[in-house]
Amino acid sequence: MSDRPARRDPSRLVEAQGFRDFVRDDWGPADRGVRAVPGAAEAAAAHRARLSAAFPGRRIAVAAGRAPVRSNDADYEFRADSDFAWLTGCYAEGAVLVMAPCAGGHDAVLHLREPAGPAEADFFANARDGELWIGAAPGLVEWADALGIACRPLEELSKSLRGQLPEVLAAKGVEPWLDALVGAHSTELRTTLAELRRIKDDWEITQLRAAVCATARGFADVARELDEAVRGGGERWLQGTFDRRARTLGNGPGYTSIVAAGEHAPVLHWTRCDGAVSEDDLLLLDAGVEVSTLYTADVTRTFPVSGEFSATQRGVYDLVYEAHLAGMAEVRPGREYKAFHEAAMRVLAEGLHDWGLLPGSVDKALDQNGQHHRRYIVCGVGHFLGMDVHDCARARAQTYHEGVLEPGMALTVEPGLYFHPNDLTVPPELRGIGVRIEDDLVVTADGADVLSDGLPITADGIAEWVRTQRG
Ligand code: GLY
Ligand code: MN
Repeated sequence: MSDRPARRDPSRLVEAQGFRDFVRDDWGPADRGVRAVPGAAEAAAAHRARLSAAFPGRRIAVAAGRAPVRSNDADYEFRADSDFAWLTGCYAEGAVLVMAPCAGGHDAVLHLREPAGPAEADFFANARDGELWIGAAPGLVEWADALGIACRPLEELSKSLRGQLPEVLAAKGVEPWLDALVGAHSTELRTTLAELRRIKDDWEITQLRAAVCATARGFADVARELDEAVRGGGERWLQGTFDRRARTLGNGPGYTSIVAAGEHAPVLHWTRCDGAVSEDDLLLLDAGVEVSTLYTADVTRTFPVSGEFSATQRGVYDLVYEAHLAGMAEVRPGREYKAFHEAAMRVLAEGLHDWGLLPGSVDKALDQNGQHHRRYIVCGVGHFLGMDVHDCARARAQTYHEGVLEPGMALTVEPGLYFHPNDLTVPPELRGIGVRIEDDLVVTADGADVLSDGLPITADGIAEWVRTQRG
């Protein structure tokens, strides 16, 4: 078994001796520098220290993973495993972090692929690693300098693990050959990492702020392109508009951008985005920029394309906004995680009851066995946020949905109402209206910071913002 799967494409392996002799020599130095983000190495070292304290005396391995195959020899873009990136600040495909127990904690070694230089056939024949195909990439020396962590060739990994396999390993599937080497897996490491990652340090919050700030710029871009969308570009034009901003200011969108106009707005994850955009539509935009350190925003605004709500649209918007305020007011240290969810749901259930949409009382709807209001909001009202849009999803229930908010937790609050066009329980004027309002928050020592408060949120505020952006 080799450390690195053979990925050389025989059709690209030029065998001619003349070529081989000629291609090897006379290359000047290439720029292999790591584009280091200030503070990333220190943050990763602190994260490793927290993991080390959680697994005293145990050997740990966490892999960055590989790009999934899209078709044949074409891959999807690589994105490092979030746990790996959190522990290393490294984003290199195929890299593996090994933390070996030592006196006082763990010694960390990062195993990496050394770039294929001109002396190797991979230089010209390997479309996944070869620098003639993918450009110059950082090597061991560059990563070690940037991260302050010992780096060793990937080829040494199986040797260094022989006879002392990791006791805890990132979940199966991140690096298949490592999975095979180690055999058995537990969820212990993944669960622990998810629970550690619930609490963001100052550097992480700075990254989240940058992601939200870039996202707000993308939202303004979308509003400015509404004319083109109405002229025929439709939802796809607006999706491309946001994604261009995300790609320019960060790695790209942190999840597939949801751009849902008119009757598509009630579809929770409308990522097809193949619909038209009309002047009298509401447009639901749910999108977030992932910055270079992998932290992502997750923001939703719903606004009238024309810059003016109809009375019915406004009624739905105001009820969701009231629920949003009720939810946000519950985000503070010491409150149960579920409190913001319950507060927002109560407001929605009361409003739906006032509109005659519930088959019984509000109390009956809010009862565990009732939940009739969930017909119009089947999803939850928020989730943890960080490197993953649905961050820390592997945390145990008692530390997440059944847990208590603590300073440093980052989360979304995102109530909504979703009246599908074919829902016969709602009056015709409400059918096809969907509204979601989503903010990104960080719990502080005495309350919460709303990272996304740079975007307008009241009905009047968002309508005026649309008119201003459209000009
Ligand atoms: N923004 C998508 C979601 O939270 O599911
Ligand atoms: Mn969300």
